[in-house]
Amino acid sequence: IPVDSFDLVIFGATGDLARRKILPGLFRRFASGQMPEDAKLIGAARSEMDVTAYRQVVREALLEFADVESKPDDVIEGFLRHLEFVTVDATGDDGWSELRSLLRAGVVRAFYFSVAPSLFGDIAERLKTKGLADEDSRIVVEKPFGRDLKSAKALNASLATYFDESQIYRIDHYLGKETVQNLMAVRFANILFEPLWNAQFIDHVQITVAETVGVGGRGSYYDKSGAMRDMVQNHLMQLLCLIAMEPPSRFEPDAVRDEKLKVIRALDPVPPSDVVRGQYRAGKDLTGYLEDVEDPDSITESFVAMKVQISNWRWQGTPFYMRTGKRLRNRTSEIVIRFKETPHSIFGPNSGSAANEMSIRLQPNEGIDLRLTIKEPGPGGMRLVDVPLDMTFSEILGVKLKDIPDAYERLIMDVIRGNQTLFMRGDEVEAAWAWSDPIIETWENGDQQPDGYDSGSAGPESALELIHRDGRRWRELR
Ligand code: BG6
Repeated sequence: IPVDSFDLVIFGATGDLARRKILPGLFRRFASGQMPEDAKLIGAARSEMDVTAYRQVVREALLEFADVESKPDDVIEGFLRHLEFVTVDATGDDGWSELRSLLRAGVVRAFYFSVAPSLFGDIAERLKTKGLADEDSRIVVEKPFGRDLKSAKALNASLATYFDESQIYRIDHYLGKETVQNLMAVRFANILFEPLWNAQFIDHVQITVAETVGVGGRGSYYDKSGAMRDMVQNHLMQLLCLIAMEPPSRFEPDAVRDEKLKVIRALDPVPPSDVVRGQYRAGKDLTGYLEDVEDPDSITESFVAMKVQISNWRWQGTPFYMRTGKRLRNRTSEIVIRFKETPHSIFGPNSGSAANEMSIRLQPNEGIDLRLTIKEPGPGGMRLVDVPLDMTFSEILGVKLKDIPDAYERLIMDVIRGNQTLFMRGDEVEAAWAWSDPIIETWENGDQQPDGYDSGSAGPESALELIHRDGRRWRELR
């Protein structure tokens, strides 16, 4: 679906995120024909360079991070022609009038803040006071959105001085992932699941976001954050909200965000006994966490597992287990909904009956599978067997995995369309910090070491114990 014409200014245009995600994402939208012919992409950064040099930076970024081999050169050149560049001093006066002169009237105007949060306020102020933004302009801000409730509140307040909430797009790229939206489609477009979607029928939920990479290269940022701030407070929390929320009345921004907010506010505080944190050790040919960061005594966690309870009618008594970590065995992100056993087995206790399980694979190999129990073929009586009803999207929909839009490209197009449904509202972010702050404070005020785990493992033993003690098991990291 084509979008209206737009001018998109990217602050931090030469930075890592712009080169890895934002520009390759825009390139793919261009190559698929979705970008209007006169759309302007304006890079803004501190670096002194002209537009030719910037186009070269972007060309190299595309070669490295976008799948350009299959595209003819003129597609790349066509994309590069959309790019402009301005050197701008985010905290001073230089470059702003030049930037203003590049902007057109009568098209959607969006400003992407791909910069450190400490610059959000300065940029927002200049956009307004120097006449670059008006009431229809949009701003896009990236995580980390603060590092605790206090700093998130301060950021929200500084943006709110210049922009209305309806103009602010806070990105959590997990919300842009194809399967995350499919999770909502499955829940709310089928009659089958919703009646069972509660503590009466669901035994527990598992949310896993496992990565194989370490923190190498990002050590100085990561060591000040840790897995709790980097992943749990935002990405895992958003996934939890989408599974646990009440059906919104419409798939519209505030209807969805109101329901997510209610979930976050219903989360119980997590006692220390229900949280495990870990830190990866060196492995064969692999550095350990302490070699990847500057501080050789760091107690920052690269892994978190926890048991979370939601205090409301729907979920009372159904725990949500969440885990995420770096340097784990496989790159797997999935949500597992484990249903309860049937109340009584007419086939007897040894027939092989198993509880139903639905797993939603966010990546890789996006899809959903539902495990059902059927009769084992053959004459041997009523022996039961557990089989998957597998909906691997690439197979059933005939799409190639690499053609599924990346989260960033989808979200940037949503900004242009003016659709905030997949973006976080300020109160949601604050509520998520209010819940995670006490957990982080307990760690920061103590001196307990995180539990070590081997690179390439499934995380620390204590994370297995966290769920085993409830008589349950993590789904294997496949
Ligand atoms: C980012 C985190 O937000 O998400 C990274 O800062 C993490 O540490 C990344 O690696 C994971 O995203 P994805 O899309 O690769 O699962």
